[in-house]
Amino acid sequence: PIPVILDCDPGHDDAMAILLAVANPAIELRAVTAVAGNQTVGKTALNARRMLSLAGAYQVPVAAGCDRPLSGALEIGDYVHGESGLDGPAFGEPAVPLDPRHGVDLMHDTLTAAAEPVTIVAIGPLTNVATLLRRYPGASDQIREIVIMGGSTERGNHTPYAEFNIYADPEAAAEVLGSGVPTTWVGLNVSHQALVTTDVLDGISALGTPLADLCVELLTFFGTSYQRTWGFEAPPLHDPITVAYLIDPAVLGHVRVGLRVELDGAHTRGATVADLHRRMDWEPNANVGLTLDRDRFWNLMIGAIDTLGSR
Ligand code: BDR
Ligand code: CA
Repeated sequence: PIPVILDCDPGHDDAMAILLAVANPAIELRAVTAVAGNQTVGKTALNARRMLSLAGAYQVPVAAGCDRPLSGALEIGDYVHGESGLDGPAFGEPAVPLDPRHGVDLMHDTLTAAAEPVTIVAIGPLTNVATLLRRYPGASDQIREIVIMGGSTERGNHTPYAEFNIYADPEAAAEVLGSGVPTTWVGLNVSHQALVTTDVLDGISALGTPLADLCVELLTFFGTSYQRTWGFEAPPLHDPITVAYLIDPAVLGHVRVGLRVELDGAHTRGATVADLHRRMDWEPNANVGLTLDRDRFWNLMIGAIDTLGSR
């Protein structure tokens, strides 16, 4: 199995990514780190513990990391994910404890303890990952790849041109991109192909387990937010695509191109700029996702809910 550190800000779609990472035997989840993003870091760490508890992953350490971006003020995604960051269902007290270490130290300890390089899956603002690389420059040798949900080859969601995770900490995104560690990017142009349609919801419902019911509640709340904010008929399940790609690379079609993060634009700060047509004099520096195999993706995602619900 592929050793993975999951850095997240749950978040409805992060919650589903946690389930997929725990359930699928191709992934060995070594640690979960929470970052401020969809909600404050105290809430995202609690939500990570809630999901790991529901998934029965009692042995996976989970710690809270950075509580604000590298520069500027924290902007949260409560207009999508609600007051708790995971609004919709009622949760009991999580059985998985909070690791007392800072999330960035948990990342570093996990990397140094590993016999082989570890993959980081980053599905929130990139503050924890950038801080890891700043604080422990040698850590990059222990990272196999960073798979990121963020950016877009098209337009944004949080602002007209910027996707939320990158907008929330553009400096962190630029540092991670410039670090020399291989990166693969799943942007909105891909995740908007992973819509939770009524067919998908029915497929989850049909599993008939308490976990499946909770997922339906989560996705229904998420759908209402997307309907209200952007007029989507069905919400896009961004984050789990990163994990699905690791499990089965055929899930994601990608190209190797020059990529930049806009830090200064008057109206475009936080936008990602992918040189898809090789118009710029940029060395290809990133794998940028373009296409999604929907069937493979949903089979993995629904299969994970089934596996965990029947344990
Ligand atoms: C990203 O922002 C968050 O709201 C989601 O969890 C996802 O990581 C999509 O723009
Ligand atoms: Ca997220």
